[in-house]
Amino acid sequence: MIAVAANEAGKLWGGRFQGGLAPETFALSVSTAVDWRLALYDLSQTKAYAAELTRLGVIKPVQAEAIERAIGQMQEQIASGAIVPAATDEDVHSVIERELVARVGEFGSLVRTGRSRNDQVATDFRLYCRGAAREIAGQLANLVAALIAQANKHVDSVMPGYTHLQRAQPVSLAQVLGRHVISFLRDGVRLQAAEASADELPLGSAALAGSGFDLDVNRLAGLLGFSKVASNSVDAVTSRDFAVDLAYANAMIGVHLSQLAEDIILWVSAEFGFAKLDDAFSTGSSIMPQKKNPDVAELARGKSAGLIGDLTSLLVLLKGLPSAYNRDLQEDKQAVFSGVDSLLVTLPAMSGLVRTLEFDVPAMAAHAGANHSLATELADWFVGAGVSFANAHAVTGRLVQRAESRGKDVTGLTAADLEGALEPDMPRATEVAKALAKFSAKSAVAARKTPSGTSASSVRAQLAASEMALRDLQAFASPA
Ligand code: ARG
Repeated sequence: MIAVAANEAGKLWGGRFQGGLAPETFALSVSTAVDWRLALYDLSQTKAYAAELTRLGVIKPVQAEAIERAIGQMQEQIASGAIVPAATDEDVHSVIERELVARVGEFGSLVRTGRSRNDQVATDFRLYCRGAAREIAGQLANLVAALIAQANKHVDSVMPGYTHLQRAQPVSLAQVLGRHVISFLRDGVRLQAAEASADELPLGSAALAGSGFDLDVNRLAGLLGFSKVASNSVDAVTSRDFAVDLAYANAMIGVHLSQLAEDIILWVSAEFGFAKLDDAFSTGSSIMPQKKNPDVAELARGKSAGLIGDLTSLLVLLKGLPSAYNRDLQEDKQAVFSGVDSLLVTLPAMSGLVRTLEFDVPAMAAHAGANHSLATELADWFVGAGVSFANAHAVTGRLVQRAESRGKDVTGLTAADLEGALEPDMPRATEVAKALAKFSAKSAVAARKTPSGTSASSVRAQLAASEMALRDLQAFASPA
């Protein structure tokens, strides 16, 4: 056997090069600071791959035993932090091979036979993304559960509903909370799709053309928990669609967290006064002793910038690449890792914030019907009395104007206020005044009974459907 090339330990190439690498080149290309988190995946992959090479007779049974033992030991040592990259290691794959060779001797590098770092890194990264999708889903499910628990307490709590951030029509607080639930549940479906898109084994594709060894890739897929194998080796080493899918799911979670954060930031302001933050999920000011700030929500809103940026970075990284592996692809990991990290701190904090939020039901109710937000009730009532909606809308608008000029809410108009404002073919002022006196935020909410509407019965059904979907998300996050 020819001795392993006269390289420094852990160097995976070099035979055709003269002299050493410029320190500047090494400094640019080293990736251990980022990709070390793939170490355990790289090790499981190497274990499965060694088993396959043993089956093919490339690795002898006695060598296989030593390799397996060393890998078991390395698993523990990586987990405990006893193995870390050396300053001279180029990437996670170099560390794993160097450590393996250090334990078993030169034949440790047989695990590279017929495999390239191109299919190797794609395999590691897919394993990582699959795990990350489930981990994020678990935290997302906790947030959804916290929102549903709050919503269930507030099906009958009426609050002002806004469009353009102007009071529009009263709604149930549970429905607004349930709206966030539904957004996050859609994100959960996106996470599942991202996990499924990563579920395809690239191993066997080698550098780009496929491996020259007769690997049983289906067996390898089984060992590594993949349900499919790559169908095109060039695609397998080029494609990062799975990473984009996860980054997209993450970015959407960021957008939805940001929207939820914005609602909460408004609600806890003195101007709205709809909710109070728990001390444990708010922060103070270093100069203003009275302050209690919604920093958790603001950080969630802020983190969404990075999550959106990660998706954009990945897409831009990929768009100009010619077929097969290009070193640009080394930059793919940071974008995904940083998004995953940021969600894994943001989601638990937002769950706690939501769980401990205390709503001021009377304060919300007091404003729910104000600022003419029952005007639509009046227009609808006119329609019930035989007026076309266009005319009903026009006359109600005039009545709002009249109410405003008299410093009243439209529902406060008396028969005397209404004199002269109604067309001859419309109900009489006394009838209109009687109807107006009966309108309330509660009745307006109760009247909206379409399945997507804000009535208590509709909202209860919406929440029940969300609870079912939550169970699917929880099952995805922690498969039995
Ligand atoms: N560190 C590289 C990456 O993350 C591994 C693959 C390197 N392949 C190569 N032919 N240089 O993409």
